[in-house]
Amino acid sequence: MKVTVVGAGAVGATCADNIARRELATELVILDIKEGLAEGKAQDMMQTATLLGFDTRITGSTNDYSKTAGSDVVVITSGIPRKPGMTREELIGTNAGIVKGVCQNILQHSPNAIIIVISNPMDTMTYLALQSTGLPKHRIIGMGGILDSARFKYQLSQRLQCSPADLNAVVVGGHGDTTMIPLISKATWNSVPVTKFLTADEQTQIVNDTMVGGATLTKLLGTSAWYAPGAAGAALVEAIVRDEKKLFTCCVALDGEYGQKDICMGVPVTIGRNGWEKIVDFSLDATEQAAFNKSADAVRSMNDVLKTL
Ligand code: LAC
Repeated sequence: MKVTVVGAGAVGATCADNIARRELATELVILDIKEGLAEGKAQDMMQTATLLGFDTRITGSTNDYSKTAGSDVVVITSGIPRKPGMTREELIGTNAGIVKGVCQNILQHSPNAIIIVISNPMDTMTYLALQSTGLPKHRIIGMGGILDSARFKYQLSQRLQCSPADLNAVVVGGHGDTTMIPLISKATWNSVPVTKFLTADEQTQIVNDTMVGGATLTKLLGTSAWYAPGAAGAALVEAIVRDEKKLFTCCVALDGEYGQKDICMGVPVTIGRNGWEKIVDFSLDATEQAAFNKSADAVRSMNDVLKTL
């Protein structure tokens, strides 16, 4: 398997590091436009191989896409990250041009690649990747809900004082501070609804803290987070290369599912060797569906901005 990570910033490098440590690829290419950055990070990571005991071959490239040729999976992290106080949506003007160009370059050398989009605003960047490449929809996966669900489980575990590994909880909808929908009514602690253990106020707090999970970190770190976003990207790569059929919330093209069309949004999907394979219907209740529709309206108005660029 050959995997490429585009963007050697904090998220891209963390994602690549996880891919290498878990030997998800025989060959891993990191590409960046900044002279020497990808080569430097690749060499630094390669020098951990004997210490950590992996044998993935990592190489770096300054914008030479021929090095990425024949990739099975490509993770796009390119673009500017948020600064404190910024929303993901404010990045659209800069990142749209970057993501579109990256997709074109990638497909020129890896026409069969499955593409994972991490760049923000992620729902719109995923939609742009799909529209501009015309690829079959199953080959374009936006990384958002898997990360937001991990943050949701973290918040629940803190409150319940339990292991996050014992929790099942998903976030659907857009990957924005106000568009994501943590489905607390469906969250369970080893199959028992978490709502049984939490007051209404506690539930509201957990949902709110989850929604601003990324913004909270941006404030603390001065830039957007990277460990969990990088790990979430690698978890998707793993599900693809190992054909795991794992169920994650990912941003995918909807064609009537969850009541929406002509949009990419976070819904539960199985991930395997063919990319995203099957959308699973979680039967949202009326309140959840209303929230999903409202989230779709926000994502759609962001997608409309693409037409003005
Ligand atoms: C975050 C970015 C990756 O949520 O969107 O941290």
